[in-house]
Amino acid sequence: MVFIVKKKINGKEYYYLNENKRVDGKVKTKTLAYLGKTKEGAEKKMKDILEGKKKSEKPKKKEIKKVKLIHKEISIEELASFCKRKGFTYPSAEIYGGAAGFWDFGHLGSELKNNIKKNWWKFHVRQREDIVGIDGSIITNPKVWEASGHVDSFSDLFVVCKKCKKPGKVDKNELGKVKCPNCGGDFEEKTAKEFKLMFEINVGESGKSYLRPETAQLIFTNFRQVQENARMKLPFGIAQIGKAFRNEIAPRDFLFRCREFEQMEIEYFTKLEQKCPYKIPNIDVLVYSEEHQKKNKEMEKMKIKNAFEKGIIKKDWHAYWLATELQWFFNLGANSNNFRIRQHEKEELSHYSLDTWDLEYKFPFGWKELQGIADRSNYDLSQHEKFSKKDLKLFDEESKQKILPHVVCEPSLGVERALLVFLFDAYNINKDGNIVLKLNPKLSPIKAAVFPIVKKPEFEKFARKIFDDLKEEWNVIYDGSGSIGRRYARNDEIGTPFCITIDDESLKRKDVTIRYRDTTKQIRIKISNLKNILRDLIEGKIKFNNVGKLI
Ligand code: GAP
Repeated sequence: MVFIVKKKINGKEYYYLNENKRVDGKVKTKTLAYLGKTKEGAEKKMKDILEGKKKSEKPKKKEIKKVKLIHKEISIEELASFCKRKGFTYPSAEIYGGAAGFWDFGHLGSELKNNIKKNWWKFHVRQREDIVGIDGSIITNPKVWEASGHVDSFSDLFVVCKKCKKPGKVDKNELGKVKCPNCGGDFEEKTAKEFKLMFEINVGESGKSYLRPETAQLIFTNFRQVQENARMKLPFGIAQIGKAFRNEIAPRDFLFRCREFEQMEIEYFTKLEQKCPYKIPNIDVLVYSEEHQKKNKEMEKMKIKNAFEKGIIKKDWHAYWLATELQWFFNLGANSNNFRIRQHEKEELSHYSLDTWDLEYKFPFGWKELQGIADRSNYDLSQHEKFSKKDLKLFDEESKQKILPHVVCEPSLGVERALLVFLFDAYNINKDGNIVLKLNPKLSPIKAAVFPIVKKPEFEKFARKIFDDLKEEWNVIYDGSGSIGRRYARNDEIGTPFCITIDDESLKRKDVTIRYRDTTKQIRIKISNLKNILRDLIEGKIKFNNVGKLI
């Protein structure tokens, strides 16, 4: 604070400009200037000084209002209702009452699902030299499922709750250990009966076959063919995305447990004891090993690399694939705080597995399996050798011997579970309580919305031309109705990252404005640059704030 003081020296009056400042909690006074001998002169001089000071101060940057988004935790039922309302997913053939465990994907859900698969394929197949992809058939020779062990072992126990009488399912090793998810009651053990999970079907005249319960087996049956065609050398992987079917006793929790779903799987083949040549990605995660579970210890946050070095994760390959899979999720915007890795206890291992670690996600109904990463050894290839009587071994140049490769890791992920994770983590609300779906632009069903805001034919024609051009490359929409605020809100809710507005200046200046969903900030850019900039924004190669001057 500044003020004038009058001092009397040798009977004469002098005026000074003083300032009070708080320093270390105490008010200190400092004289800034001498203002002369008269009151009027002093007041004028002070005014001049203060105005001069103001001018010399740097002009403040235009304040940009930050729109705070708040992540909202919702239940699985709320998510299901949102997905239906907006056109992501709904019960299959709902006009007939639906079909339990079967879901149809709408105009947004099918795009989101495709984007998840496309990004998975790019990361795991296209961008790697050691993995190639295939697309096997859904129905195959039934012998495949005898060899794989599914005909004999792929079943759950059908149980009924003693308290609420609802039917449920438990894994064979869980009887007597788990409670009814509906009411917390105990399951009747005496009446528990084995329930086969493969759907049986009839094929032509020849008889019984099955809908595949996993995509993996088609990789094993085609293993030699693919290796020869693609001239793959160990270590290498074969990937596949496709439908799988399981006659789940109790499909539940929306898309979490369905009877028809899609898997994205890799069988990664190595020689026995072959070292992993790849660096383990630097990822921190909650680790919940078999020992943690058996000794009732808390899970621990650590680097996956350290978990391997401490012997918690036994194989370098397992550590590498766990970290790589987490990296895929985190790169696409999933929240790392909602993830943990959990080792299967001996009793819960599948019939083919030596060791399995799951990526688990904190769903609203608890920590649940998102992705399984099993060490399948050479169980499957040796079973198929036995049943088909074909030699599936490869010649190893190093040892000059024929060897049957081992699947050291099988990263196996359900597309629907990945979709749930991305939706849960993207679900935000803004200051007005409106939903903003903060999906990574690579996953967003609609990449951009084009809005003409002047209702005149020449502006609409101009906007249509931009829309037609963008449509060549991306799924974009043209939205010409409603207030601009309403149009933004509609698109925020379904995760459209960029809204392009053609305003009254656009025709003259040959430019548009782009608004970014997560900050609501806008920039003006030339139409000639629009496609390149949009491409870089969607791919995450540039930050919105660095594209141009914010308006
Ligand atoms: N080939 C190995 C295999 O199929 P799994 O643990 O039975 O292993 C792998 O399944 C992944 O498939 C699971 O982690 C999950 O993401 C997905 N999945 C399995 N059953 C599912 C179901 N009924 N509904 C939706 N996704 C399912």
